Amino acid sequence: MRPLIARPLIAGNWKMNLLRGPAVALAEALRAGAGGIAAELLVCPPAITLPAVAAVLAGGPIALGGQDCHMAPEGAHTGDIAAPMLVDAGASYVILGHSERRQNHGETDEQVREKTVAALAAGLVPIVCVGETAEQRDAGNATEVVGWQLSGSLPKGFAGVVAYEPIWAIGTGRTPSEAEVADMHGFIRAELERQFGAGGAPIRILYGGSVKPGNAAALLAVPEVGGALVGGASLAAADFLAIARAAPGG
Ligand code: PGA
Repeated sequence: MRPLIARPLIAGNWKMNLLRGPAVALAEALRAGAGGIAAELLVCPPAITLPAVAAVLAGGPIALGGQDCHMAPEGAHTGDIAAPMLVDAGASYVILGHSERRQNHGETDEQVREKTVAALAAGLVPIVCVGETAEQRDAGNATEVVGWQLSGSLPKGFAGVVAYEPIWAIGTGRTPSEAEVADMHGFIRAELERQFGAGGAPIRILYGGSVKPGNAAALLAVPEVGGALVGGASLAAADFLAIARAAPGG
């Protein structure tokens, strides 16, 4: 029997947005509106506003995550944030290997894998991002690229979440068709089972890239889509909550 996959996870990636006042206000609005939502909710603010957001969300149904962590638990790494620091600030998740970090900071699959090991060691659930560029998709290489990213970025015994985020869909308003999402998520599931055997079956696979209230129900209904990683639309409480309500069982 196929193991039960957990309820959908709707994760908000606030990226480098919102000063403390608006971040707290958004967290308050989300907490006030989260009642009755079946999906698991997560917000990932910038590390510096994480403690203020944590104070608002404490004891409620919305989990908290970081957007990156260092591979070392502490040490001489100016400007970096260690996984245990995220835990200390109230986080239970961390996004790793987002395409903006891979592109803007040159993060490699190997570094993402080391960060994933560090996150798991600290007790965080890593959300490891993969996804192809438009050129790679147009050249017919999307699954090959994602396959390499998965085998390079996920450590042995990986127990976390994978997010499929086609780079050309991030912040662009463009999304793959439901058939393209189904194909890629099916491929990712098969790869996870190939890499991790039975341990690959319950790994949640999120879709990310221009998820909005208007397309969320269709995207979240695609087989093997276990939730969404939401950027732009996670900055408005009404939009994020509408996406969460569109999740199956929501
Ligand atoms: P977007 O970003 O929803 O603004 O496209 C998604 C992401 O980068 O996680």
